[in-house]
Amino acid sequence: MTSAKTCALVTGASAGIGAEFCRQLADRCDIIIIVGRRQELLEDLAGSLGSQADVHPLVADLTSIEGQTRVIEALRQKGPVDYLINNAGFSTLGNFAELELAPQQEMVDLHITASLALCRAAIPFMREKGSGFIVNVSSLVSFSPLASVAVYGASKAFLNHYSEALQLELKDQGIKVQSLCPGYTRTDFHGRDSMQGFDTEWVPEEQWMEASQVVAESLAALTRDQVVVVPGASNRKLANAGMRAQMGRLPETDD
Ligand SMILES: NC(=O)c1ccc[n+]([C@@H]2O[C@H](COP(=O)([O-])OP(=O)(O)OC[C@H]3O[C@@H](n4cnc5c(N)ncnc54)[C@H](OP(=O)(O)O)[C@@H]3O)[C@@H](O)[C@H]2O)c1
Repeated sequence: MTSAKTCALVTGASAGIGAEFCRQLADRCDIIIIVGRRQELLEDLAGSLGSQADVHPLVADLTSIEGQTRVIEALRQKGPVDYLINNAGFSTLGNFAELELAPQQEMVDLHITASLALCRAAIPFMREKGSGFIVNVSSLVSFSPLASVAVYGASKAFLNHYSEALQLELKDQGIKVQSLCPGYTRTDFHGRDSMQGFDTEWVPEEQWMEASQVVAESLAALTRDQVVVVPGASNRKLANAGMRAQMGRLPETDD
């Protein structure tokens, strides 16, 4: 099945970076499938973009198999998708052994299982079309293991590794894969209940980026041969420092 229409599917579209992806993709897409749990916000976004694209809100909890299955169904019926943006995410805050397991498992279900399921569903259509873009939204923390966000950081590190290997597998098929690693970005992310105790005042003003800048850098980078994308020059320095520190922890000899 091929289609002349350009279609995007964006998860976590009801707010923040995902909503911004929808706004910036609206001028290059005919159809946008927007996924989240909060119907009202999805409908507001669909209304605001309605003059630019045919926007389909889809309420689904992507931590569940049932939610993932419904999104895959929409991808098959309304696609093929040209842009798959696996963006939905959240973090807990606190040491692994002191938090309930359930929300930490949900991060794995959302960041990893749902992203894998949607990639697996979208790639055959992209292959048939000979083109496609996949953005898996990771995080700057993926480069530096940190206490209090162990599972969040590890689930995002998975996305970097996975995206790089997936790009190797798909490189001759016209499909671009990106792992987008934002640093601190002004969204609702840090105000969520699961982040209780986080004070945005801890973060120096100059470290914050706007979602619009993050998304603009992501979309611009899709024209380059670059899988792991870190928006913002100061964030790129932090990412490089994190990677160097990880290498330094690996002794080259047994002495
Ligand atoms: N903001 C930052 O500083 C920052 C930094 C690095 C990486 N990131 C990453 O950027 C991505 C977007 O975050 P954001 O900053 O835009 O945060 P946000 O404003 O809190 O938005 C998160 C989005 O994910 C959706 N979502 C959460 N749980 C979901 C679930 N179970 N099923 C379906 N959708 C779900 C939310 O929609 P509903 O609540 O309507 O379901 C919302 O649309 C995340 O993957 C996050 O890890 C953010």
